[in-house]
Amino acid sequence: MPDLDKSASDAQKSKDFGIGIPMETPGFFLKGSSHLNWGMKNRLSRIFNPKTGKTVMLAFDHGYIMGPTTGLERIDLTINPLIPYVDCLMCARGGLRACIGPEVNKPVVLRCSTGATLLKDLSNEVIGVTLEDALRMNASAVTCQVCIGDEHEKETLDNLGYLVTEGNRYGMPTLGVTAVGKQMVRDSRYLGLACRVIAEVGAHFVKTYFCEEGFEEVVAGCPVPIVIAGGKKLPELDALTMAYKAIDQGAMGVDMGRNIFAGEAPLAMAQAVGAVVHKNEKPEKAFEMYKTLKSEQAKA
Ligand code: 5RP
Repeated sequence: MPDLDKSASDAQKSKDFGIGIPMETPGFFLKGSSHLNWGMKNRLSRIFNPKTGKTVMLAFDHGYIMGPTTGLERIDLTINPLIPYVDCLMCARGGLRACIGPEVNKPVVLRCSTGATLLKDLSNEVIGVTLEDALRMNASAVTCQVCIGDEHEKETLDNLGYLVTEGNRYGMPTLGVTAVGKQMVRDSRYLGLACRVIAEVGAHFVKTYFCEEGFEEVVAGCPVPIVIAGGKKLPELDALTMAYKAIDQGAMGVDMGRNIFAGEAPLAMAQAVGAVVHKNEKPEKAFEMYKTLKSEQAKA
């Protein structure tokens, strides 16, 4: 821990992230994935569009800790119409099996951790879905959250290590999610630490939060692709601006839930987010697109 003997700002200033020098990806389009096997690469190529290298993941796993949260009371009614407009679904096993038709041809990133609800300590999780069951559900990746700095940091890292090790047996990639406890600060120092730890344990891609200062360094310090979580519902222009900034600073996509499904016009928002992620559309232009689609969809 060489940084511990320096102040936070001194430690940050003395780092060299090689900003502006992209990491080489010989033979495969995704950062840090060149040395993976064919099955892993094939699954990752379903999640990330090989033409743009990016992804819009629709997160609707919230019920596994929150129950019927606002906007997600009925997965069947809310999520099914959105599926054509996103690249990938991120969800828990029960919601997927009960509410989403198996004929849906979109990759699934399957939430495999459980053990906590918002009534208790959210970091106190175990793995509740085996790799065999993830394969039976035809998942394209498995995922769990890692609570760096929380009481159950060790157990959540153990969960991640388990998924990565078992997933490696079957060519199944693992998404590591940085869950940020209430007492943690969502700054680049914390997020950079969490993302790097998750990648070093072996996650094939990492989900984290965007931060206004130093996000580029969070991305540069993480040797595998990063996607950002949406977080709490924001006004549409703010959410599109956050997505734009994250992509501009090196994120390879979004894994967004509430900012898509809990808004006034989820279909329009999914498409506007897609334009930002895949076409680098500026937030203001994407917001115009959102408003146009919203009014067209209201008339339909
Ligand atoms: C919870 C999750 C959620 O999927 C994640 O928070 C994304 O949803 P939202 O954009 O609504 O925050 O991983 O741990």
